[in-house]
Amino acid sequence: AAAPRYEAEDATIFQGAVESNHAGFTGTGFVNSDNVAGSYVEFAVNAARSGPRTLTVRYANGTTADRPMDLTVNGVVAQAGRSFGPTGSWASWADSALTVTLNAGANTIRLTGATAYGGPNLDRITLT
Ligand code: GCU
Repeated sequence: AAAPRYEAEDATIFQGAVESNHAGFTGTGFVNSDNVAGSYVEFAVNAARSGPRTLTVRYANGTTADRPMDLTVNGVVAQAGRSFGPTGSWASWADSALTVTLNAGANTIRLTGATAYGGPNLDRITLT
């Protein structure tokens, strides 16, 4: 089966907008978080069973500066200030993967801009 994909444009967005003006996204667009600390995208994720998963975040950062984000799973910090470095252009998308632990059933995965730049543009997450 295909890996579960969760498009950022379908997630809960706090201080950000769905846009489609930079090519290469999947789904119908991506999220441009406001350039403020605390802007976030939160994904509601269902898991058949508890345990570790590889979480892959697809993003673009067309600036020359890092756009670190705080990653929480079910409200608990999984990684603070995870780096989302420059990808070369806003139309160049990169994957950033790490291991997270999910509960059986409903989970929330939130990516919050850690600096006044806000986050990078977020396309989707995948869980495998
Ligand atoms: C530009 C770009 C946006 C991006 C923004 C930013 O405006 O077009 O897609 O989100 O920069 O710096 O976050």
